[in-house]
Amino acid sequence: MSIVWESRYALRMNGITSSTIRELLKLTQRPEVISFAGGLPAAEYFPVERFQAACQRVLAQSAHQALQYSTTEGYLPLREFIAQRLCERQFCVDADNVLITSGSQQALSLIGALLINPGDRVLVEEPTYLGALQAWALYQASYVGVPTDGDGICTDQLAEALRHGPKFMYILPNFQNPAGVTISAERRRELVRIAHEHGVPIVEDDPYGALRFEGEDLDPLVVADAEYLGLGSSMYSGNVINLGTFSKTLAPGLRIAWIVAPKDVIARLVQLKQGADLHTSTFTQMVIYEVAKDGFIDQHIEHLRTVYRKRRDAMLAALDRFMPPGVQWTHPDGGLFLWMQLPEGLSDRAVFEAAVKRDVAFVPGGAFFPRPDAPPTARLNFSCMDEERIVEGIRRLADVITEMQNTVQPVPSK
Ligand SMILES: Cc1ncc(COP(=O)(O)O)c(C=O)c1O
Repeated sequence: MSIVWESRYALRMNGITSSTIRELLKLTQRPEVISFAGGLPAAEYFPVERFQAACQRVLAQSAHQALQYSTTEGYLPLREFIAQRLCERQFCVDADNVLITSGSQQALSLIGALLINPGDRVLVEEPTYLGALQAWALYQASYVGVPTDGDGICTDQLAEALRHGPKFMYILPNFQNPAGVTISAERRRELVRIAHEHGVPIVEDDPYGALRFEGEDLDPLVVADAEYLGLGSSMYSGNVINLGTFSKTLAPGLRIAWIVAPKDVIARLVQLKQGADLHTSTFTQMVIYEVAKDGFIDQHIEHLRTVYRKRRDAMLAALDRFMPPGVQWTHPDGGLFLWMQLPEGLSDRAVFEAAVKRDVAFVPGGAFFPRPDAPPTARLNFSCMDEERIVEGIRRLADVITEMQNTVQPVPSK
């Protein structure tokens, strides 16, 4: 007997397709490819020695605890550490508001399980994080997209979008993945005001906020919300669920992130997480805590900011130098990505395929839109290639675009 598994898959699998990013990354893993495709932090700056020492310390001092099952909520000293850092910098919560997750990707998946019924709408920025769209495909979400510009989500279009009755808004406030844009302070205030007017909660996903190279840190939506309510900026009102991760500031391979939410919401998420994986690895939570504590994480972030800033500058300078007219790009003040608008008439897929033949890769922007008719765009990651390769990669990409512009008959705009 040979089982036809496909005939047995659950209906929810119908909406699930392979991640474009993962499929594309497979094509670009040859060492000769200059890849701007992944969202990878620079591996050469992982604090390997500090991790080695932390692993040894955890095993020498607390092996029985580290190797044992533990609570679903997460390792208490780590939850306290996260809560304390938030209190010092942004808004006040205690450890009971914090749930440790296996990456923010799991946080998104748990939030989907908690909030989304089949057909429920989620309001997202256009473009938005592809991983959220993937996570919520399982729950058969549909989307209301709101365009973004250089100041982030266009809040003047929010009220109209909210008429479609989304269950919640999913917002990336800082150096957004994929567009690299940051929501201005004024728009943050406007966003929470409109959210209150319509009684819609916000899920604020902020993996990149710590990686600012330029300008002032802006208050998260959690704080804008408290201010709107006149609670004092450090109070947590519970209207915004806030997500954070160590993936971009320490190392993504550890898969340690967190959700901040009201305690009753945390309790329900804990029930879901029990069904998903019982708890996030005890050992890695303890190691992350050992690595991050005593001010190390801040020193390390400072270092990353310097390195990533240089790489961003190299990419911006190369774009200025090589790109033909008709190509535009964002100027991110932090994070890992910038976003390129390709000349009208070119397809981002076709540019991608031609670029890979020249050993340079990016992610075609269409993947980040919750609709099929997206404009031709590209996400470029600047964090994981050195400056020399960045310049060479942009030069090759510019050549590809220039050649395609010269050969492809542009589709006349309507
Ligand atoms: C906006 C956003 N949310 C969530 C994630 C997932 O992060 P993690 O590695 O913590 O799962 C990413 C990763 O790139 C991201 O860009």
